[in-house]
Amino acid sequence: MLEKDIENVLISQDDLRDIVMRMAKDITDEYHDKFPILLGLLKGCVPFMADLLKHLDFHLEIAFMNVSSYHGGTASSGEVKIDMDLGTPVKNRHVLITEDIVDSGRTIDSVVDLLKYRGAKSVRVATLMDKPEGRVLDFTPHYVGKTIPKAFVVGYGLDYQEKYRNLPFVGTLKPKIYMSEE
Ligand code: PRP
Repeated sequence: MLEKDIENVLISQDDLRDIVMRMAKDITDEYHDKFPILLGLLKGCVPFMADLLKHLDFHLEIAFMNVSSYHGGTASSGEVKIDMDLGTPVKNRHVLITEDIVDSGRTIDSVVDLLKYRGAKSVRVATLMDKPEGRVLDFTPHYVGKTIPKAFVVGYGLDYQEKYRNLPFVGTLKPKIYMSEE
């Protein structure tokens, strides 16, 4: 039912599986003996983080923050808001943030700064997608699943007005979907 609104599939379910496996291997090499905090930025991180977790065969702690910047539209508002802070102290801990996408870089940059300020031993970012053409801040994620062009994508955690997060792949919406609602 949701698929009919999709114009192009950008990352298929098979591609997602391969990407997650590759990232899990790289993350395991670095973190297997560090008992890191795997910090998910809600809500977009959920499918990616859940899939990634299953392939990380070492001790880790999970935590979440709810940070928003898009507020339901198709472009970043430029405003980063912490709706829910994480409950776990990060002082002297290795923190690996899991994100669905880094676009302007504003969200991730402000979260990384905050965690460093709170005394995290290290802060790195694993993002499923990186959209470097959208950057307004100089930020390079440490682990990237796929670099994508400047297009508005939905699925596998990413939404348009809170919809489409539950699509099992990433794709672009047919323009008529967002044009009819704006
Ligand atoms: C999206 C995405 C990233 C951020 C990326 O979150 O999950 O956190 O925007 O954009 P940026 O690099 O331009 O800051 P959003 O604020 O839409 O919240 P959500 O995860 O709940 O959808």
